[in-house]
Order: sequence, then structure tokens, then C-alpha cells
Amino acid sequence: MDVINSLRKILKTRFKREHFLAYIKVFGCQQNEADAEKICGFLKLLGFNFTDNILVADLILFETCAVRHTAEEKILAHIGNLKNIKKSNNNIFIAICGCMVEQENIKNYINEKFPFVDFICGAKSIENFPELFYKKLTGEKLNNFCNVPVLQKNKFNAWVPIISGCNNFCSYCIVPYVRGPEKSKDYNQILDYCKKIIKNGSKIITLLGQNVNSYFYNNFNFSDLLKEIDKIDGEFTIRFMTSHPKDFNKNLVDTLANLKHFSGHLHLPVQSGNNRILKFMNRKYTREEYIEKINYAREKIKNLVITSDIIVGFPGETNLEFEDTVSLIQKIKFASIFNFIYSPRVGTAAFNMQDNISHDEKVRRISKIIKIQEEISQEFLSGFVGTNLKVIIEEDHVNKSIARSKSNIIVELKGSFNVGDIVNTKIISSKRSYLIGKKV
Ligand code: SAH
Ligand code: SF4
Ligand code: F3S
Repeated sequence: MDVINSLRKILKTRFKREHFLAYIKVFGCQQNEADAEKICGFLKLLGFNFTDNILVADLILFETCAVRHTAEEKILAHIGNLKNIKKSNNNIFIAICGCMVEQENIKNYINEKFPFVDFICGAKSIENFPELFYKKLTGEKLNNFCNVPVLQKNKFNAWVPIISGCNNFCSYCIVPYVRGPEKSKDYNQILDYCKKIIKNGSKIITLLGQNVNSYFYNNFNFSDLLKEIDKIDGEFTIRFMTSHPKDFNKNLVDTLANLKHFSGHLHLPVQSGNNRILKFMNRKYTREEYIEKINYAREKIKNLVITSDIIVGFPGETNLEFEDTVSLIQKIKFASIFNFIYSPRVGTAAFNMQDNISHDEKVRRISKIIKIQEEISQEFLSGFVGTNLKVIIEEDHVNKSIARSKSNIIVELKGSFNVGDIVNTKIISSKRSYLIGKKV
């Protein structure tokens, strides 16, 4: 507590007020959302409240992503825009955290171009954010900070990191470099945490990891973990992401089929439908194995909602190889997919592969997939019209609310509800990427 009090004192002097406001912006994936909630828990202890208005903030923090060049460009532009804010009040504290600033070259670039940034804390050091923040403000080293509670952005929604880092080294991907090696978290600690948050009202438990299927701690695997969480008393849904197809197996499907609380949504990124490209991506499964796994899962779990990620324009991808991805999408009929144009990342294996596809061609390929998937998604969604769906309210706007079904389908509802409410709806129509429902 001494530590907290001394930090508070320093911040009071710096910001010239008793209560402080923080503006937090999260880029990238759910792992970053989870990291931001940890940081927010710490800032709350120091007396911060949170604002969406960057102009009134004492502390501005970006949780950054490095997965594609476009993401980095956008974030760097946002950082550049902070210059004037800092000019208007030099006491404002600017912190840049997360994956992007794990890269030495980017860190140097920020230090050089944006000297008004006060503090940089990369993704691998997020667990030590309190100690590093303390060192920044006091100049002193702190060995171990007290246990900091996570501050959930939405009380009903809980991110539960079960694995940090990644060992897969897909040839295009920077994540293993910026997040470090894969490490499974303590089995009992995860279970205790889940029990606590479910008791406190969390209704959606999302287990997080770059490859949740490879969870392994003291002889307990991912299936064991799911079965134990499933036994906890309460009304909740278990989601997880991401599943890597190479480790997604029949044993896990059999487990999922028997869970009481499984959401029914599976995100299983395939990346490409062509075996040569999959090999060069270092994904360690074939198109045929992927299809077989999906068939088995669909056979065992009815109404399974399957989504995926696709990369087009991987170095050397011919038009015929691209067409294999198209035919896979048409065959599997995912509920939805995230599409990306391949982005070369410094330090990855693919960075040195010959990238000879023109930008226009990459855009043509992604546009083709978007169009095909749009029709598939529409057909998938129209199948819900006339049925009843239980949803949880995520956003409450004037006259309409945005909700999500257990299996991750977005439903727009007329009328006002409370965030976190569970509502029974009847689906009256379907749009391109969501459903329209009414309360029953
Ligand atoms: N661990 C997850 C994905 C993490 S990154 C998995 O293995 O599926 C999320 C998605 O970003 C990936 O699935 C991939 O489709 C995309 N992605 C990663 N690196 C990329 C790159 N260099 N260029 C384009 N898309 C990329
Ligand atoms: Fe990246 Fe592959 Fe790891 Fe996913 S599994 S984070 S795509 S290296
Ligand atoms: Fe981006 Fe880091 Fe996630 S690179 S996608 S925020 S793990």
C-alpha cells in the first residue's frame, strides 16, 4: 500500500488534481484486451477513472498490435496525433504498450520521432507493468508488486488468458517474436479465477491463447481444463480462441460435444486451401486434414458455428492456388471469415520469400473472397429467421441494442435494455452480417 500511496502522491503533483482520468485505446486481438484490463486494474488502484474523451485525459495509453503493416501504420499515425495534446499540457503521461513496441526498430523510431512519449512497455513485459511504471515515476526499482485485480470492461464478459506466447512460427507471423515462447498458465489458478468471476457475475468466459489446443500444465490438457470449468455452478458460456487446426483433434471435439456450457462457436483459422501454400506457411496440416476435422466436428456437435481467417497473396501464391482457397470456402461454408492481404513482417521466415504478386492482384483476390463469403454468410444468417435465439446485450443505444448469441452471432434488437441482460428473442430478419430480432 505504501507503494500505491507514494505513486498517488507523485501523480497528484504531476497532474495537479486529486482524481485522475485515463484514456485507453486497444488495437489488435483479445489478448490485448485482456492485457489492457490488467493495466486498468492497476490504474484503478492508483485512483484513475476512465474516459472516452482523449482531450480530458491525464494519462493516454495505447495497447498496440504488430500483426500487419497496416495496423502499425494506423497506430503510428495515432501516436503522431498526440503531439499537440502533449504540447497543450506537458504533464500528460503518454504510454505505448503491447506487441508493436516489442520490436527494437519500432521502439527506436518512436523514441526518435515522438520524443513526447513518456513510457514504452512491450507485450512481454505487461506482467511487470506496475513495477516498470513505478520505476519510471520514482526512479526506484521494485521487486514484486502486490496482486493487482483485473478491471473487466464489461462485467459480464471475462477474458481468461490460459496460454501466453506462441511456438508455432507460421512463416508469415510476427506473434511468436513479439509475445515470446508459449507458456501455459497454472491449472488451479485458472480454475480458481473462473470460479471467482462466475460467482461475481461473468456470463461469458473466453479462454485465450494463440493456440488454446496446445494447453498443457502438469499433465492437464485443454480438454481437462474445459471439463473442469464446465463443472462450475452458474449460468455462463465458455468460448475460446484461437484453435490451431493442427492440434484440433477428435478428443477435443468429443469433449466439446459433452460440455453443458460450450458456446457452439469454433474459430478455426485455415489461412489457405492449398497444400503447397500451407506447407510454406508452416501450418502443419493439409487441406484434406482440415476438411476431415470440420466434418467430424459438425457430425458430433449440431449447429456448430465455424469461422475462420484467410490470408491471400502469400509469396508465390499462384492464381490456381488461390482458387483452392476459394473452393475450400465454398465447400466448408463458414459462418464468417476474416480476410487479410499478406503483409510482410521483418524477422519472419516469409519476409525473405519472393513476393511477386502485384498489389492490384492481391486486392482482386481478397475482393473475390469477400464477395463469395458475403453470399455464404447471408445464406447462413437467413436460416435463423423465424427461430428463437437467446442473446446477451453488449451495447445499449437509443432505441436499439446490440446483442450476441451464445455462438457469437450479432443480433440487433429494438428497444432499450441493460448491458449484460440475457434476452430471449425471435429473429425477424437477417442482414449481411447480423440478425434483427425482437424480445419474446
Ligand atoms: N494464433 C492465431 C492467429 C493470430 S493472428 C492462429 O494461429 O490462427 C490473427 C490472424 O492474422 C491470423 O490468423 C492470420 O490470418 C492473420 N495474420 C497473421 N500474420 C499476418 C500477416 N503477416 N499478414 C496478413 N495476415 C496475417
Ligand atoms: Fe501466428 Fe501461427 Fe502462432 Fe497463430 S499459431 S500466432 S498464426 S505463429
Ligand atoms: Fe496483434 Fe499482438 Fe494480438 S501482434 S494480433 S495484438 S498478439
